[in-house]
Amino acid sequence: MSELTVIVLAAGGGTRMKSKTPKMLHQIAGRSLVGHVLAAVSEAGASRVVAVVGHQRELVEPHIAEILPEAVIAVQTEQLGTAHAVRVAVEAGAVSGGTVLVTYGDTPLLRGESLRALVADHEAAGRAATILSGIVPEPSGYGRILRASGGPSAGVTGIVEEKDATDEERAINEINSGIIAFDGGFLAGVLPRIGNDNAKKEFYLTDAIALAVSDGLGVDAFVLDDVSEAEGANDRAQLAALGKILNDRIVTRWMKDGVTVMDPATTWIDADVELAPDVTILPGTQLIGATRIDEDAVVGPDCTLKDTEVGHGARVVRTQAELAVVGPGANVGPFSYLRPGTVLGEEGKIGGFVEVKNSTIGPGAKVPHLSYVGDATIGEGSNIGAGTIFANYDGVNKHRTRIGRHVKSGSGVTFVAPVVVGDGATTGGEALIREDVPPGALAVSAGQQRIIEGWALTKRAGTPQAAAAEEALESGVPIVGEPSATGE
Ligand code: UD1
Ligand code: CA
Repeated sequence: MSELTVIVLAAGGGTRMKSKTPKMLHQIAGRSLVGHVLAAVSEAGASRVVAVVGHQRELVEPHIAEILPEAVIAVQTEQLGTAHAVRVAVEAGAVSGGTVLVTYGDTPLLRGESLRALVADHEAAGRAATILSGIVPEPSGYGRILRASGGPSAGVTGIVEEKDATDEERAINEINSGIIAFDGGFLAGVLPRIGNDNAKKEFYLTDAIALAVSDGLGVDAFVLDDVSEAEGANDRAQLAALGKILNDRIVTRWMKDGVTVMDPATTWIDADVELAPDVTILPGTQLIGATRIDEDAVVGPDCTLKDTEVGHGARVVRTQAELAVVGPGANVGPFSYLRPGTVLGEEGKIGGFVEVKNSTIGPGAKVPHLSYVGDATIGEGSNIGAGTIFANYDGVNKHRTRIGRHVKSGSGVTFVAPVVVGDGATTGGEALIREDVPPGALAVSAGQQRIIEGWALTKRAGTPQAAAAEEALESGVPIVGEPSATGE
């Protein structure tokens, strides 16, 4: 393969998105549209990438620079057409020889392997230009591929834009994807020859094809197997449609790699997620960002995991998690909320209606029910009782709580940070723990239970509560009466 320069055209606006965010920066599968294109371009083995920016370049340019710092940025201040944009790129990138591949920044489904196949075909034939084309049922809006009389296998003679096409040409259903491989020398020479005498008064890159033909140079079209690869997102409906296609592609790839996905239609997996074989994903699950799931783990139903790691054989049910780590064999959910900095050890448990933030829960440690754990470290094998609160905020600063190994906390305990509980200690039910607890100690703080006889009869006189109490007392039942006649 000769030196490959890829030009990414990303200067156009995206008015139909009706957004303050530039079209190229809208996301599907956790990456921007232009981010997907740059990934495909890198996969195709580009030795140089030139990105043409213009519209909202103060946002587009830094975004491209972040994804691909080595990309050359060319600024097209006025969007005068695709040939003009390529000319700006050729000048900025000092492109002369080798192969130059022109791509667009808004075709996120484009595969690196298709680009590679296009370039290989183009170079093997030694053509001036090779168009990536596709056959579509509904060609409106696209440039049509013109071929010498003789049908689909006859030689390509040019491309006509929709607005300049005759009715007969509009009926052609082979379209220009917009992606064209050029011989660099031919491209540099042909650009100044392209005018703007057409319906849109734009400099059309597509005019290069007819010029090559009239020069007697070789041109052809390389037909895409999967024409969705050339689709751009012009509005939010198309964005969602492309997102769905890309998701289907990602989910299918993981299933082929040994992941069980019970319901592909309700499973959303971002491009950068990593899954091991024998992971099981149950319905209604979104795996976002850099989420990683290890072998034999079961995730779902109804989980949203962002930038989260799930260990081997762990089980995560109906959970929202971000920047969390779930250890091997651990259990999470249902209805758990794991905020950034949550680390759950091997075989640990975070149960129903538990919120955890910036906390490490050791191996085999359990927070099974209805708790808030903020800024805490819980040692190996400890058990935190139902309804326990780690009060980490004093109104000004956040503080940490440290719970040792094999600590047992009763239900409804409040740990007021900063506080330390030693290994093997116990805290009694409803205790308010403000002071450190030594190893092995029992800390109780709830007062002793007091009984005020007949309180309901006077303080709640006239209520069903008072009546029930009176009835029970009169019947002579020692403490608890039989269920009342009303069945309560
Ligand atoms: C273009 C092609 C058409 C093809 C279609 C595929 C031309 C003349 N037409 O038409 O044959 O079927 O794409 O989608 O090439 N851009 C710039 N600067 C400009 C103009 C465009 O950077 O001055 C960028 C846009 O941001 C976009 C791409 O080039 O990414 C295509 O531009 P657009 O105006 O959408 O071209 P189409 O009319 O769709
Ligand atoms: Ca377009």
